[in-house]
Amino acid sequence: MDRILSLLIILSVLSLWVTVVSSDGGEDALIRQVVDGHDDAMIISNDQEHHHKFALFKKRFKKVYATEEEHDYRFHVFKANMRRAARHQRLDPSATHGVTQFSDLTQSEFRRTHLGLKGKLPKDSNTAPILPTEDLPEDFDWREKGAVTPPKNQGACGSCWSFSTTGALEGAHFLATGNLVSLSEQQLVDCDHECDPEDPGTCDSGCDGGMMNSAFEYAIKAGGLMREEDYPYTATDGKTCKFDKSKIAASVSNYSVVSLDEDQIAANLVKNGPLAVAINAQFMQTYVKGVSCPYICSKQLNHAVLLVGYGSAGYAPIRLKKKPHWIIKNSWGENWGENGYYKICRGRNICGVDSMVSTVAAFHTTSG
Ligand SMILES: *[C@@H]1O[C@H](CO)[C@@H](O)[C@H](O)[C@H]1NC(C)=O
Repeated sequence: MDRILSLLIILSVLSLWVTVVSSDGGEDALIRQVVDGHDDAMIISNDQEHHHKFALFKKRFKKVYATEEEHDYRFHVFKANMRRAARHQRLDPSATHGVTQFSDLTQSEFRRTHLGLKGKLPKDSNTAPILPTEDLPEDFDWREKGAVTPPKNQGACGSCWSFSTTGALEGAHFLATGNLVSLSEQQLVDCDHECDPEDPGTCDSGCDGGMMNSAFEYAIKAGGLMREEDYPYTATDGKTCKFDKSKIAASVSNYSVVSLDEDQIAANLVKNGPLAVAINAQFMQTYVKGVSCPYICSKQLNHAVLLVGYGSAGYAPIRLKKKPHWIIKNSWGENWGENGYYKICRGRNICGVDSMVSTVAAFHTTSG
């Protein structure tokens, strides 16, 4: 009896330790409660495997740590992220979760440096007119039509909002002119300090975050955005704005907010081009491929991305079931996700993906 009791105590101490070691930020607390921890003991005995995985990770993503302490700390974080990926896998079986270039970052480091959505939609935003939805194609992808530039990389800077903004304007400009021109995020990072009219404390602020609708507002006031190559991205806050009005390549004519209705979102996508959308990025730190369709996901929006298409096939790894999904262009480079893209299932506003959607139109005139 005594032995059983002490075994029980040891086990509960162990599982407590696992919980403490892997806890970082609150978002996963709910997940840990829902997903049982039956494999925690097994995970502890897998230390050797973790060493091997970490070695591969460092090699693949060219990770170098300045000191031995830093290295050991990052290995500790890596192991916690492997446990987190395993939890995500159980909650999101139609996607694959595992090692990504962010596996050595804590959740709070990741949120601080690779997301960057700040603010909310103003109540008086223009709402997009309701469009007919009867004749929508079953699958649709703006990449196939040449309206989407290759995935870019925001680096360690909370500037996702600027990439979502340029992506939407690049698409609208393509629809208006037939030319695909890569546009400057750095112009937005350095020059756009537009504030939320209802909350003047919330302003676009470079690597500290911002919002697509205020960036469209800035672009209207400034006259437009320069080309990427004329104002290249540095992943840092520039001290001065180097905007040159004579080099404007694309201009916003108007923008509006699409209602929380998946058919309207699809109709606006097909008619007006790629859409600027916000999402909760909780599952994206560990996402590798497939259609992400988590059983539970916060709808608190913290990341900005670009909606470029939708489909119903592509249920990985076996196409047993069709899984309707959105195709999302991210700004974490081509080595993240499916060549820089994320697939998230449609149908129930998963991770808030339907709740902040903007469409933009460009002027026909300027061609850069
Ligand atoms: C821009 O304005 C036109 C004319 O009012 C309207 O038809 C169109 O839907 C608007 N586009 C967007 C993206 O808001």
